[in-house]
Amino acid sequence: MSNENAKAQPNEDIVLRAPRVEDGAAVAELIRQSPPLDVNSTYAYLLLCHHFAGTCVVAELEGRVVGFISGYLPPEQPETFFVWQVAVHADARGRGLGQSMLRHLLQRPVSRHVHFLETTVSPSNAASRGMFSGLAKDLETDMSEQPLFDHTMFGEGAAHEDEMLLKIGPFH
Ligand SMILES: CC(C)(COP(=O)(O)OP(=O)(O)OC[C@H]1O[C@@H](n2cnc3c(N)ncnc32)[C@H](O)[C@@H]1OP(=O)(O)O)[C@@H](O)C(=O)NCCC(=O)NCCS
Repeated sequence: MSNENAKAQPNEDIVLRAPRVEDGAAVAELIRQSPPLDVNSTYAYLLLCHHFAGTCVVAELEGRVVGFISGYLPPEQPETFFVWQVAVHADARGRGLGQSMLRHLLQRPVSRHVHFLETTVSPSNAASRGMFSGLAKDLETDMSEQPLFDHTMFGEGAAHEDEMLLKIGPFH
């Protein structure tokens, strides 16, 4: 499927659902194919699909995992949904799937008391910034940005960019 064809196809072909442990390996593979995301162990994705299925989502197209978001409600901030990783397969980008998955998570019962969304982005990730600023616009709310993890915190020689904290909200 080329990106051009993907744009022409409606997102109705795509099913958004909570992940199952059987999705763990496919999710790990999608992350591997989605630089600049950090690739965590397959075990970490199995745990997300098992313990955090309620706050994670997979996008499935004809039995293939083409999108994934991991997230959770930070224990000390129950009004905040923290988005960890977002990946959309290269073939399915540019047709609003990233934003659809974010809205899907905010519409789940688990998010009923959520009024803010937080995430971290690197300064150079234009696609990620575009997706989150589009969501803030859609929710008719503000987006603020402040430093969270400085590149030096990833350890010497890690060649990791800074991670800026984006905060979107309040929304209802
Ligand atoms: C970031 C990513 C998830 C976006 O997925 P997507 O489904 O293509 O995003 P959407 O179609 O929902 O895009 C939403 C907005 O971002 C904008 N956008 C998307 N790609 C962009 C790019 N490369 N540059 C600038 N803006 C971009 C879109 O124009 C759209 O804006 P709009 O709402 O004003 O129209 C996808 O590019 C990806 O998986 N990238 C690799 C992994 C990554 O960087 N993940 C994010 C880090 S958490």
